[in-house]
Amino acid sequence: MTKQAGTIKIGIVGACGRGASFKSACDAAEGVQVLAVCDTHAEGLPAAAERLGASEQYTDYETMLERSEIDAVIIGTPMPLHVPQAIAALKRNKHVLSEVPAGVSVEECRELTLTAHASSGIYMMAENYTYIKSNVLVRELVRQGLFGTTYYAEGEYIHELKELNEITRWRRKWQTGINGNTYPTHSLGPILQWMPGDRVVSVCCAGSGHHYRDPRGDLYENEDSTITLCRMRSGGLVKLRLDMLSDRPHLMTGYQLQGTDGAYESARAYGEEDRVWLRALNKDPNRWTPLRELEAEYLPAMWREASEVARRAGHGGGDYFEVMDFIAAIRGERPPEIDIHMAMDMTLPGLISQRSIAEGGRWLEVPDSRAWLTESPPQPQLQMRFPQRLFHSLPIPVVPDGYLLRNLRPGEEAAYSALMEKAGFGGWSIEQVKRFMQRVLPGGFFVVEHLATGALVATAMANHAPSEQHPNAGVLDWVAADPDHKGRGLGRAVTAAVVRLLVERGYQDIYLLTDDWRLPALKTYLGMGWEPILFTPEMEARWQKVYEALDRKEVL
Ligand SMILES: NC(=O)c1ccc[n+]([C@@H]2O[C@H](COP(=O)([O-])OP(=O)(O)OC[C@H]3O[C@@H](n4cnc5c(N)ncnc54)[C@H](O)[C@@H]3O)[C@@H](O)[C@H]2O)c1
Repeated sequence: MTKQAGTIKIGIVGACGRGASFKSACDAAEGVQVLAVCDTHAEGLPAAAERLGASEQYTDYETMLERSEIDAVIIGTPMPLHVPQAIAALKRNKHVLSEVPAGVSVEECRELTLTAHASSGIYMMAENYTYIKSNVLVRELVRQGLFGTTYYAEGEYIHELKELNEITRWRRKWQTGINGNTYPTHSLGPILQWMPGDRVVSVCCAGSGHHYRDPRGDLYENEDSTITLCRMRSGGLVKLRLDMLSDRPHLMTGYQLQGTDGAYESARAYGEEDRVWLRALNKDPNRWTPLRELEAEYLPAMWREASEVARRAGHGGGDYFEVMDFIAAIRGERPPEIDIHMAMDMTLPGLISQRSIAEGGRWLEVPDSRAWLTESPPQPQLQMRFPQRLFHSLPIPVVPDGYLLRNLRPGEEAAYSALMEKAGFGGWSIEQVKRFMQRVLPGGFFVVEHLATGALVATAMANHAPSEQHPNAGVLDWVAADPDHKGRGLGRAVTAAVVRLLVERGYQDIYLLTDDWRLPALKTYLGMGWEPILFTPEMEARWQKVYEALDRKEVL
C-alpha cells in the first residue's frame, strides 16, 4: 500500500459547491493542507479559496492537475464529471476521493476500475452515510454476530428536490432525467456493510409512474418512486426505494435489516427513534429496543471518542470520517474504506436498474468489477487510412440546401457539447471544447449548421496526431451527427472537409480510429475510399466481419 509521510496537499474540485463541505475535516486532519481549489464558477472561486484556506485557484481542472503540486484531489463536481476527473488524476498517480455515485455508465465505471488498478494513487468513494452513527452501530452489532446471518434489507432515499434541480441544473438530467435508481449509494452503502462479503448479482426495477412536471411543463423522465430489487450473491434480497420528486417530508436515511437473530428499523421521521430487536439481548420477540440504548456497550471507538468537529460535520459526521479514512489510506495506515470495488458494488446496481426499467423490469445481471481486471484487455480500435492515390481527386464537401458547412465559432461551446451529447458522445464540458478549439488545426473544427433552427447538427475535426505508428500524421477526429438529421450526407461532408484540409496542410499520412459496430460511419468511410489498416493479425478477421455486416464484396 502507498505510504506517504509529510504534509498531504489536496486540491478540491467543485470547491464552490459540495467540495466546500470537506472543509472542517481537512482543517482538523493533521498534516493536511488544502493547497488548491478548482471550480468553473470563476466569480465564486476567491471566496471558496478563502473559506478552504487554499493559496491556488483554478477554473480548469486539467490545469490544476498539471501545475499544482497536489498529492490528492477531492472531487465534488456533478455526477458525469466524477469518472473523467478521477481518471485524469489517477493517471497522474494522484489519490482520489470522489463524490457519489462513482460513475454514470457501466462503460466508464469499467474504465475507472482499470485505471484505479493501474495507478499508484488511491481511489476512494466518499460514501458518507456509511459513517453515520446509527449505521456504524448496526454494523458493529452485525460484526459481533448479534443479527445472526443477515439476509434481507431495505434502503430508502426519499428527498424531494424539484427546486434544487433548478438551482443545480445537472440534477435535472442526471438524477431526475433518467429512469431507474440514479442515486443508490446512500441506501446500498450501509446495507452492503451489514451483509459483509456479499454483493448484488442481479436487479430488477419498476416505477410508480409520472405525477410531476418541471417548471417548463415537462414530465420528469424518472418515475416518482422507483423500487429496485437486488438479488444478493448469498441468495438474500435488498429492496431500494428512490424518490426525488414526491411531495412529502424527507427520508434520506430509511433502513431496515433482517437477520436470523435480529432486526433493525431506522426512524422514519424526526422525533422517532431507531429501534432494534436482537434475540440475544431481548427475549421478548414483540418488543423493540431503542438503538441508542446499545451505544454504551457497542458503539465503536471512532464514534465514542469523536471530537466535537466530527460530531458537528455534515451528514451525521460522515463528511468528517470519510476524509480521515482517505488520509489514513494515503498514509498507508489501512486500506481505503470504500475502495474501487466497493464503490462499484454500491454504484453498478443503480446503473443496471436503469437498464432493467427500460426493459420492462427484467432481471439483469450486475457486473462484478473484480472480473474486469482479469478479462482480456479491450481490443484496439479499427484504423483506416485515406490513400495517397486519391489525393488528386479529393471528395467534395457538400451539404444539402438548408445546411451550412463552416467552422465552430467561439461562444458555441455549449451548442457543440449538446450536439455531442445527442450523437452519443456525452460528457463534453465547455472547458474541454475550448481546449480542443485551441488544439485543432487552424480552420479544422468543422460543423454543419441547420439554417432553419441555427442548431449544430454534424461535426468533425482535423487534428495533428503523431503516434508511434503514425509519426507525422493528420487525423480525422470526433465525427458526429445529430440522429434527427441522418441520411443527408452530413457525416460525409464533414469527413470530406477534414480530408481536404489535411491534404492542403501537406499531410501524407491521414488516418482515423473507429469501432467495429459503427456500421453507418464505416460504410461512409469505405464509400469515400478510406482503406483498413491491418496493424495487428486479428484485424483481417474483424474487417471481414464488417464487410459481411455491410454486405460488401471486398476481400482483404
Ligand atoms: N455525499 C453526499 O451526501 C452528497 C451531498 C450533496 C451532493 N453530493 C454529490 O456532490 C456532487 C456535487 O453536488 P452539489 O450539490 O454540490 O452540486 P453543485 O452544482 O452545487 O456543485 C458542483 C460544483 O462543481 C462546479 N463544477 C461544475 N463543472 C465543473 C468542472 N468541469 N470543473 C470544475 N468545477 C465544476 C460547479 O460550478 C459547482 O460549484 C454531486 O455528484 C452529488 O451527487 C453528495
